[in-house]
Amino acid sequence: MTQRISVIGVGYLGAVHAAAMAELGHDVIGLDVDAERVAALQAGRAPFHEPGFEELLRRGLAAGRLRFTTDYAALADAEVHFLGLGTPQRADGLGADLSHLEAAVDALAAVLPARAGARTLVVGKSTVPAGTARALAPRIEQVPGAALMWNPEFLREGFAVQDTLAPDRLVYGVPGAAEEDPRVGMLDAVYAPILEAGTPRLVMGYEAAELVKVSANAFLATKISFINAVAEMCEVTGADVTDVARAIGMDDRIGAKFLRAGVGFGGGCLPKDLRAFLSSAEQHGVGEALGFLREVDAVNQRRRSRVVELARELLGDLAGRRITVLGAAFKPDSDDVRDSPALDVAARLLEAGAELVVTDPEAEAGAVRRLGAERFTADTEQALAGAELVLLLTEWGEYRDLDPERARALVASPRIIDGRSVLDLPAWQRSGWTTRALGRGEARSVPSRAGRPVPAGEARPVPSSEGRPAAVPVPA
Ligand code: UDX
Repeated sequence: MTQRISVIGVGYLGAVHAAAMAELGHDVIGLDVDAERVAALQAGRAPFHEPGFEELLRRGLAAGRLRFTTDYAALADAEVHFLGLGTPQRADGLGADLSHLEAAVDALAAVLPARAGARTLVVGKSTVPAGTARALAPRIEQVPGAALMWNPEFLREGFAVQDTLAPDRLVYGVPGAAEEDPRVGMLDAVYAPILEAGTPRLVMGYEAAELVKVSANAFLATKISFINAVAEMCEVTGADVTDVARAIGMDDRIGAKFLRAGVGFGGGCLPKDLRAFLSSAEQHGVGEALGFLREVDAVNQRRRSRVVELARELLGDLAGRRITVLGAAFKPDSDDVRDSPALDVAARLLEAGAELVVTDPEAEAGAVRRLGAERFTADTEQALAGAELVLLLTEWGEYRDLDPERARALVASPRIIDGRSVLDLPAWQRSGWTTRALGRGEARSVPSRAGRPVPAGEARPVPSSEGRPAAVPVPA
């Protein structure tokens, strides 16, 4: 049944949620304080790169089921209000900044009409520290007939539409954790087609629902840092981290996903959620329990420094050296550069005086903002031309599929660092490239300190002109 819905905060999460709710057949109004964003969405233009989103947006607009506003008064008619506001890291610490969320709750409460019975549902979707919903509830519930529940969102950038319309699970947080709570039935009616498709739905308390989201992200970050810590061991023992990851991932208690070693995690969620979780634990007096998350963050930061170290191993002093960075987005299929490992490494190379060229298929705006327009080119071949060193830092398909022969013809010196463990290094070496990779076996990319024999077809370490060892291919 069609419901009147509002989505407050149409950033990444909110905009996708609004369009997805219209796709389910509801009558949806999205609100944001950013008038430019509202105008773009109302005109059917996606303010970010997300496969499938613009089609969904246009379909909703054309059907008359979706519109956008900056005016809270326009929301008064809706029965279900989703809160999709951002909770960024605070400027003065590790905790989450809840000011946007709090302001939105107060602005909404001011326009909600009093209704008899439980008739108005406010649904928090933002990622928040445990205790937030309980603290916000009285501000909503002062309006007769209005109630708050928490329903965290697990969408991944690049798969946002699919993750919203066909999620792994739905989590409902209500005080008392009771299935019979009238809020549960109201949200079930909104998500009816998703539930009918068999999606599991879990009802729990406010705090548990809040913790599901932060612990899921902290776990994913831990998994990535775990394999990256193993990569550090691989670098000193001569192992290849992709061999280790493949083998441990076959144990289904461990699982193969999120074991890709490389330059580490970034984006608008994992880094800040990890820090907010730690900060929240400290506030509750159990900081020690989550103290390991500090190490998870530290391992992640160390991978970025390690890439710069590898560049120095290959080139010596970086000042004035022509270096090309492939990738600026924090991951492929996204134009998001928030806390992007690729951009961070690029900025460090620039600071070291390198003559830098960065390229990315989608993240031009973010890269230009951080590094300046003169350092960016959208064309991969142009970016490679004249390079003395190439770094692959975001694994877009077109970089994975680069032809080493063709690339070699473009660069000034064939040296490459694979920061995402995606290249067939022996093939690159056969084309004359000197290769380095994070965690990928000394035999294949860096000299063996363990002195183990180098198998035929793999790289044999030889001293380079700078007196540092370099890897060259050994004919089979
Ligand atoms: C994440 C969560 O996956 C999602 O459930 C949550 O709702 C929001 O945060 P997202 O930020 O879109 O989603 O990115 P994700 O795909 O999780 O990747 C995060 C980072 O980890 C990226 O920088 C990615 O490159 C990196 N990563 C991922 C690795 O370095 N190795 C891996 O094996 C997987």
